[in-house]
Amino acid sequence: MQRLQGKTAIVTGAGRGIGEAIARRFSQEGANVVIAELSPKTGKAAAASIAQETGNRTLFVETDVTDPASVQNMHQQTVEEFGTVDILVNNAGIAVFNEPLDCTVDDWAKCMSVDLEGVWTCCKTVLPGMIEQNNGAIINIISNHAFTVIKATFPYPVAKHALLGLTRSLGLEYADRGIAVNAISPGYTDTQIAEDDFVRTGDAAKARAETEAKQPVGRLCRPSEVAAIAALLASEEARFMIGENIVIDGGVSIRMYE
Ligand SMILES: NC(=O)c1ccc[n+]([C@@H]2O[C@H](COP(=O)([O-])OP(=O)(O)OC[C@H]3O[C@@H](n4cnc5c(N)ncnc54)[C@H](O)[C@@H]3O)[C@@H](O)[C@H]2O)c1
Repeated sequence: MQRLQGKTAIVTGAGRGIGEAIARRFSQEGANVVIAELSPKTGKAAAASIAQETGNRTLFVETDVTDPASVQNMHQQTVEEFGTVDILVNNAGIAVFNEPLDCTVDDWAKCMSVDLEGVWTCCKTVLPGMIEQNNGAIINIISNHAFTVIKATFPYPVAKHALLGLTRSLGLEYADRGIAVNAISPGYTDTQIAEDDFVRTGDAAKARAETEAKQPVGRLCRPSEVAAIAALLASEEARFMIGENIVIDGGVSIRMYE
């Protein structure tokens, strides 16, 4: 399907993982895709690989979502290259996990600056253009940590809960300006972050098997499964959905204790 033909989409943190899968899917759907990524190595590689696969235009812009000037520069380059911004996916995120009283001032600031403030900075930067063209879609990649909590993962769920508030606030505020702001909350997804977690235990294969066994579906979420939902939310087909949070966690968050 080519549901995003002629659209321009910015995907933050699209050098790898969920963001790369979303950028790839959007490009397959016909969009011009901007890889707004901190790492030049992965960002350039993702942009080249996607363009080669789909034949559609991609642009890598080295971007730090915690730095408003960097986000401004990325937006400017996008507009110069493609004219408009139709879709923003706020995907860049980091996991900062502590017991609350072990969370340092730096841990807190690092987590909030990427996972929460970075999202607001990107929204603030693209919204005026979307309002002017009376059309746009913003998709925030949150987590099932937006409404459930695992002990010793502080302050990640604090930021992710707040993102739900941001999604709803902006969703309602700009619903009558042709803009749909929504969120996706994936569960445990098979990306480098997950693999690093498994490796850290000392027996990656065992840790993976144990984690998979805890999932009602018996496996982790695939990045492409998050991307499929993102493509729907980005398309004109989903414009009556406002401030929603689509949970794609294989049923983990609806399960009572066993
Ligand atoms: N993997 C999971 O299990 C999972 C589950 C639920 C939600 N999420 C969320 O999905 C998103 C993507 O996760 P992932 O697993 O693909 O992670 P990942 O670490 O594989 O990818 C994140 C990307 O964001 C980039 N990034 C980090 N800080 C940045 C910054 N300041 N500016 C720009 N880019 C930056 C990284 O370089 C990396 O390429 C995150 O917001 C994460 O919280 C992940």
